[in-house]
Amino acid sequence: MSDSDIGVIGMAVMGQNIALNIESNGNRVSVYNRTGSTTESFYEERGTDKQIVPTYDLESFVDSLERPRKVLLMVKAGKPVDIFIDKLIPLLDEGDVIVDGGNSDFHDTERRIETAEDEGLLYLGTGISGGEYGALHGPSIMPGGHEEAYEIVGPLLEDAAAQVDGEPCCAYLGPHSAGHYVKMVHNGIEYAVMQSIAEAYWLMAQGLEMDPPEMSDQFAEWNERVGAYLYEITADILRQKDDRGDGFLINKILDTAKQKGTGKWSVQSALDYGVPVPTMSAAVEGRFLSAVKDERGRIGGQYKVRRPQQSLSQEFLDDLEEALYISTVSSYAQGIKLLNVASEERGYDLDLSTVARIWKDGCIIRSTLLDPIRTAYDETPYPDNLIAAPNFQSEYNDAIPALRRVVQAARAAALPVPGHSASLDYFESLTSPDLPANMIQAQRDCFGAHTYERRDAEGTFHTEWGE
Ligand code: 6PG
Repeated sequence: MSDSDIGVIGMAVMGQNIALNIESNGNRVSVYNRTGSTTESFYEERGTDKQIVPTYDLESFVDSLERPRKVLLMVKAGKPVDIFIDKLIPLLDEGDVIVDGGNSDFHDTERRIETAEDEGLLYLGTGISGGEYGALHGPSIMPGGHEEAYEIVGPLLEDAAAQVDGEPCCAYLGPHSAGHYVKMVHNGIEYAVMQSIAEAYWLMAQGLEMDPPEMSDQFAEWNERVGAYLYEITADILRQKDDRGDGFLINKILDTAKQKGTGKWSVQSALDYGVPVPTMSAAVEGRFLSAVKDERGRIGGQYKVRRPQQSLSQEFLDDLEEALYISTVSSYAQGIKLLNVASEERGYDLDLSTVARIWKDGCIIRSTLLDPIRTAYDETPYPDNLIAAPNFQSEYNDAIPALRRVVQAARAAALPVPGHSASLDYFESLTSPDLPANMIQAQRDCFGAHTYERRDAEGTFHTEWGE
């Protein structure tokens, strides 16, 4: 039997599906899982008629691989990745490649790349997006790290990725943790778009008293403009009946959202670089607020906030389409701005047009919007912000008045819309040559002699304020 082209460690559903995907392109794939019975049942249920090689100890797994060996880790992000790297190091030889395909923290990836280098190994920190379906049928793949590693494993990853117009949704993004950083920001955008969609749903449900199928139709119609996976699944979700009782499932699902961390990491990194990502941040905080349901119930009981049953009008629905559209665009704008700054700070040298291209299909934030976004970043120097890109100016001009009206109407109805509000304030601030920060400068100087700058003279100044 010939040696395997690649080995996949971790046989949870993502690992299984990516192994089958790679195999379907004519590759022999060795698989290994910490618990052998999982490997066995995977092989028996899904692998017997394929070039899948089940292995039950790491030595045989490594021995089964063609050199230079390619090992794809599909294990839970965090400690399990380190544990496997530690176990693999003594078994691998110089020039072998480790690919971490999980949602790893980019700081961990930086550290692991150094460890790999010390051991003569090559390493790729690789974001893989698209859920279970994408893993099997073609995800978006975001690799970064050693370029020599990409030369070895890239063709195989490119074949496994979603394909758009003959191009794979996979490209070498840059050195260090570029791949995991891009995947983290992908998830930050994912959070922001999900929050804006959830708010639009809530405004329709609460303000217009629409029922789930009507809202589903609305999202499906709006999706004709953005061709976005997240809009598409929202339309599907709103049609799902509850198989445990009457009515629609959405009405039975608890209004508390969990999170695994990538959205929060994006916001944390943005704070470190001083890059505003208000819609992303509102989305992370929105999940925190959703999680304290008991507290919300108690405090709500104390205040008895009156939510006027204001029936919003058809015009409101037209405005809502525009508002959600531009809040969605704004979510991408913030994420891409963060990538641009992080790329300079961290030496990733990201090609933002390529990032937009590989997000076009396979991943959770895939959308036809990525076409004009790609165009906006096709030339360098890049625009200051997507808001400033010539091909988005008329979009913003048309949609911002509607976003203002939607936020206003939501305020009047006492319905929280943190994502839409954040997108609006992002635009209002970025388009304001003047902001009230002169007052903040004055206050800092007043209480702490921190000095200030003047509009009419160079240098720094201090004033003995008042007495
Ligand atoms: C993807 C997803 C995936 C993950 C979500 C969920 O790109 O396929 O982003 O990586 O399932 O990010 O994340 P939360 O649990 O934090 O919502």
